[in-house]
Amino acid sequence: MRLRVPDVLSLQQGETRVFQYPTAYGDMQGFVIRHNGELRAYENKCRHWPIPLDYGDGDFYFASADRIVCKTHGAMYDPATGECDSGPCAGQSLTAFPLELTGEDAWVEVPEP
Ligand code: FES
Repeated sequence: MRLRVPDVLSLQQGETRVFQYPTAYGDMQGFVIRHNGELRAYENKCRHWPIPLDYGDGDFYFASADRIVCKTHGAMYDPATGECDSGPCAGQSLTAFPLELTGEDAWVEVPEP
């Protein structure tokens, strides 16, 4: 299913817009991040433990390392690919969602519930 995530065009480097989507197991979260001029969408779930990457604050980007970080145990993910290159789940990847920009909004393709 496609979800509209509003006002992503204004995001600056490392800024994110969190969105919710329904699954068979309840609502899940994803986020859109701007990184080096590109917008990407990922599931907000660490590959180490099935918990959110942030602390519910929508803050995912660790600028000095140029990485998306899991705040619980410090896994680092490349914002361009979603691949974890440091931490307990090194070699695994965030789940990425296809994203299409329309005007100032993103349309993100998430799995059907
Ligand atoms: S839960 Fe994310 S690194 Fe452990």
